[in-house]
Amino acid sequence: MKILITGAGGMLGKALTSCLEAREHNVAGFPREALDVTNYNQVIEVMKAEKPELVIHAAAYTKVDQAESEPDLAYLINGYGSENLAVACNHQDIPMVYISSDYVFDGEQNRPYHPWDQTRPLSVYGKTKLAGERAVQHHLNKFYIVRTSWLYGPNGRNFVDTIHQMAMDGKPLRVVSDQFGSPTCTLTLSETVADLILSKRWGVYHATDGGVTNWFEFAQAIVSDLKVSVQPIATKDMPRPATRPKYSVLDKTTLINTIEREVVPWNEALKMYLSMKMQGAAR
Ligand SMILES: NC(=O)c1ccc[n+]([C@@H]2O[C@H](COP(=O)([O-])OP(=O)(O)OC[C@H]3O[C@@H](n4cnc5c(N)ncnc54)[C@H](OP(=O)(O)O)[C@@H]3O)[C@@H](O)[C@H]2O)c1
Repeated sequence: MKILITGAGGMLGKALTSCLEAREHNVAGFPREALDVTNYNQVIEVMKAEKPELVIHAAAYTKVDQAESEPDLAYLINGYGSENLAVACNHQDIPMVYISSDYVFDGEQNRPYHPWDQTRPLSVYGKTKLAGERAVQHHLNKFYIVRTSWLYGPNGRNFVDTIHQMAMDGKPLRVVSDQFGSPTCTLTLSETVADLILSKRWGVYHATDGGVTNWFEFAQAIVSDLKVSVQPIATKDMPRPATRPKYSVLDKTTLINTIEREVVPWNEALKMYLSMKMQGAAR
C-alpha cells in the first residue's frame, strides 16, 4: 500500500515509518518541515502529488502542559490540521488513521474505557485531540481513530528515557502513584496499526500495550536493574498546569477481535525497549 504519514519526524511517526517499510509498504513520510498540516493548500497539493492509498496522521501538538497556556495553537494543529487532512482524504476517497489519546476521557469511572464510552477531556490537549476525532468522523466514512496512551520509544522525549537518565545521574525519583493507565511502546503500537489497516473495519479503536499500572510502578520497572529507589507521591503534591485523568485504562476487546491477536503486556514491551537501549539500538 502507498501510505502517507504526517508527523514522520516525531517519535511515533518514525516508529510507524520503519515498521510499515519493514512490511514492504511504500511509505511517504512527511515531517513537519515538508508538510505543515495547518496549511490547507499544502495539504491538498501534497496529497494530489503523492496519491496515497491511506493516510496515517501522527502529527500533533503534544505538549500537554504548555497547551493550557496556548490553546489556540493546540486547537489549530490538532483540530483544524486534522480537519484539513480529513477533507483531503474525502476528496480522494481514501481512508485515514487518526492517532488519538486516552486524555479524551476524564478518568473518573474506575473501569477501562470502551471506544463508545462518553468522552469528557479534562485538559486543553485532550479537548483538541477530541476536536480532531470529530473532524475525522464528520468528513469521512472510512477512518480508524486509534486512541493510545503513555507512549515511549526510540527517537523521542519520553518518560522511560527521562526516568532512566535521572537514575543514571543519581537524581532523586519522586513519581505519582495515583494515576493509572497503560504504558505503550511505539514499536508495539506500530505493529498494531500495521495489522489494523489491513482489516478495513473502520471505526474507533483503543490500542495500548496490555495491563494496568501507575506512573510510580512504571518508574520502578524502568529502574529495576539499576538498584535505585523511587518515592511514590500524590498528584496533589506535584501540581502541573494540565489535569490528567486518574484512571485512563482503555479496553481493547474490539481491537483484539479485529486484529485477531492479543496485545503485548506493557512490562514485556518495556523489557524489550530497555534491552534495545542497553544495546544502543534505541536512543
Ligand atoms: N506521547 C504520548 O504519550 C501520546 C499518548 C497518546 C496519544 N499520543 C498521540 O500520538 C501521536 C504521536 O505523538 P508522539 O508522541 O510521537 O509526539 P511527537 O514526538 O511530538 O510527534 C508529533 C510530531 O508532529 C509534528 N507537528 C507538530 N505540529 C505540526 C504541524 N503543524 N504539521 C505537521 N507536523 C506537526 C511535531 O513536529 P515538531 O516536533 O517540530 O513540533 C512532531 O514531529 C500524536 O497524535 C499524539 O497526540 C501521544
